Amino acid sequence: MTLADLCRPDFPILARKVNGKPLVYLDSAASSQKPRQVIDALRGYYETSHANVHRSIHTLGEEATALLESARDSVREFIGAEQREEIVFARGTTDAINLVAQAVGRTIRPDDEILVTEMEHHTNLIPWQMLCRDRGAVLKAVPVVGEGVLDLEAFSRLLSPRTRVVAVAHVSNVLGTINPVAEIVSRAHAAGALVLVDGAQAVPHLPINVASLRADFYAFSGHKMLGPTGVGVLYGRRAVLDSLEPAWGGGEMIKEVWIDHAQWNDLPWRFEPGTPPIAPIVGLAAAVEYLSKLGMERVAAHEHELCRLTLDLLSKNGDLIIYGPRNLEIKSAVVAFNVRGLHPHDVAHLLDEEGIAVRAGHHCAMPLMRRLGVVGTVRASFSVYTTPGEIELLAKSLANLHLMI
Ligand SMILES: Cc1ncc(COP(=O)(O)O)c(C=O)c1O
Repeated sequence: MTLADLCRPDFPILARKVNGKPLVYLDSAASSQKPRQVIDALRGYYETSHANVHRSIHTLGEEATALLESARDSVREFIGAEQREEIVFARGTTDAINLVAQAVGRTIRPDDEILVTEMEHHTNLIPWQMLCRDRGAVLKAVPVVGEGVLDLEAFSRLLSPRTRVVAVAHVSNVLGTINPVAEIVSRAHAAGALVLVDGAQAVPHLPINVASLRADFYAFSGHKMLGPTGVGVLYGRRAVLDSLEPAWGGGEMIKEVWIDHAQWNDLPWRFEPGTPPIAPIVGLAAAVEYLSKLGMERVAAHEHELCRLTLDLLSKNGDLIIYGPRNLEIKSAVVAFNVRGLHPHDVAHLLDEEGIAVRAGHHCAMPLMRRLGVVGTVRASFSVYTTPGEIELLAKSLANLHLMI
């Protein structure tokens, strides 16, 4: 039994039809579908245990707090963090990266440098642009070369004693490139820079161990890893989090407050002002449990085979231009392509008529689109429930596209 055969009965949405055809959901990089276990955890939480956390002494308040804090332990274990204090709950990757830009931003001076890459999602670019604008710092980008990999020689040349932060995607949401994060971290640390890794497209697909990557920050979203929307995680290395002022102020991030000053709370709560997204955090713990039971090595192997099949089948179609590495060792669960002579939106629309959901457009990566010389691409992306049969259907529909116009 394949992994997808095992999982599919858990995902109620996969039974629905779209335009009279069985749904073929190839848009998991935008947001994955949810297993019954996650949906049940959300319902169960609201039906039996909801109250605010970290404040109410009554039974429900304590139950909700225990659920939230045990979710923190699950996430810590899932990504291999050394301490639970290093796991900060955020609203998503975007929120987590803005949190870092805000907190680290206070220490940035004019002419300091921030280094991003040309393949970043806007989420890992715009907060740094805003920071550089506000603090008079300089933003630089590592070029994308060849089939869609980072130019590591240029990276080393761009690093300087002025580099304060290196912000890099673990996996590109367009090219599927798996970047050599451990190597990037080691070179950046040697130059004295902090490293933030955008793990939005990595945590759902690869076994992750943040302690061995040695990154200072690692951000990801719940909704791309079978969990609910509205929750994400910022991993921060203890020593680095300890050295930072909070990003934002509010309730629960303090110990003691006077009218003109306050004493900050301990980690990780210092970075979690206000009521957290409690139900989504409970749902995220269920998603972590689900993925852990499957085993991330097995998930990665399953998606590796799907990538191989997609590249094999799509490269037989001479009308297609495929982007990203062909080397499967550095390619994750995303395949972007274009059909010669057709706008990506038209391709996505025609595929939708067949029940096939793909994403089309710039994928929030406009600088990368410029580097590729395109306005956008079509993108097929996979998850645990994606089957080889669905990839074959995609390839067949693309081969028949001219008949559909
Ligand atoms: C690589 C990458 N970074 C960041 C994000 C933003 O994630 P979110 O919208 O969940 O904050 C995405 C979402 O598509 C992504 O693919």
